[in-house]
Amino acid sequence: MELTLTRPDDWHLHVRDGAALVSVIAHTARQFARAIIMPNLRPPVTTGAQASAYRERILAALPADSDFEPLMTLYLTDNTTADVINAAAAEGSIRAVKLYPAGATTHSDDGVTDISHAWDALDAMQAHGLPLLVHAEVTDRDVDVFDRERVFIDRILEPLARRFPELKIVLEHVTTRDGVDFVLSHDDNIAATITAHHLLLNRNAMFSGGLQPHAYCLPVLKRETHRAVLIEAAVSGNKKFFLGTDSAPHAREHKETACGCAGIYTAHAAIELYAQAFEQAGALDRLEGFASHFGADFYGLPRNTDTITLEKTDWPVPDSYPLGDSTVIPMFAGQTLNWRLRD
Ligand code: DOR
Ligand code: ZN
Repeated sequence: MELTLTRPDDWHLHVRDGAALVSVIAHTARQFARAIIMPNLRPPVTTGAQASAYRERILAALPADSDFEPLMTLYLTDNTTADVINAAAAEGSIRAVKLYPAGATTHSDDGVTDISHAWDALDAMQAHGLPLLVHAEVTDRDVDVFDRERVFIDRILEPLARRFPELKIVLEHVTTRDGVDFVLSHDDNIAATITAHHLLLNRNAMFSGGLQPHAYCLPVLKRETHRAVLIEAAVSGNKKFFLGTDSAPHAREHKETACGCAGIYTAHAAIELYAQAFEQAGALDRLEGFASHFGADFYGLPRNTDTITLEKTDWPVPDSYPLGDSTVIPMFAGQTLNWRLRD
């Protein structure tokens, strides 16, 4: 069996920098035409000039024959001015701005401490049609880690959507029924990305047979009832839900340690993992809209015109891949996947 799709794009991706970037970028470029590149470097990508320089480093790291296009984002801070947004919009290569609540996840220390600090920037983004990409989790220590998305929606996102009714917002890596309901209850300026790992795993994966650091990500995996809602949203054919892997490589020793980093690496087999999730849901015919059409439409970019072909063939996922001078353990390491991208 074969499946041919318009070439997909990844609307949420971490590729890091330096030697790690060189290790991972080919995995994404072999499947996807474009990807929205997350700005959570150290220091974060907060200006158009930093984004252009990062874009050049990504292009330089690509295999010679690749025409993969990185789509750059800025990292929103308490000090992002309307001028920075206006300049980015005028220059044209910044596609979105990422909101990390300070302390929510990897390299989020420079994130927004109080959303009111961002009103001017958000106003300018709304005026320019520049999307806000949201890591939708509160950071309050008294909020249960499994409730952080729901509480963020109630406290921050609903009021934000009321204050900026035309602002384009992507609820990144949605993980809960509450997140899906939020997206469904708003107009078409509000959408969500869904990761392959949140479609394929529930929170049991973190504890199966012992603590599994490579199944730890943020937002953390949720219970099965939420996963079922994510599958329903992904295969619904609703253009508000589209592919964003949140593939987030960390060196093995930073995961298998006393205080392990959050992030699941899926770029090695992203489209194959989504194909598996859609096939399990009996909805392979819905994969193309989700993976290749709806994200481009939301961002106002042309759909890709070339195609990729997946074959129904078993293949073993390697135990690890190189990551700079270390290794990264990919999702389903050592297991068998049953869809394979034809080279
Ligand atoms: O699991 C995650 N890893 N979630 C994030 O929000 C950030 C990402 C990373 O950069 O490692
Ligand atoms: Zn991310």
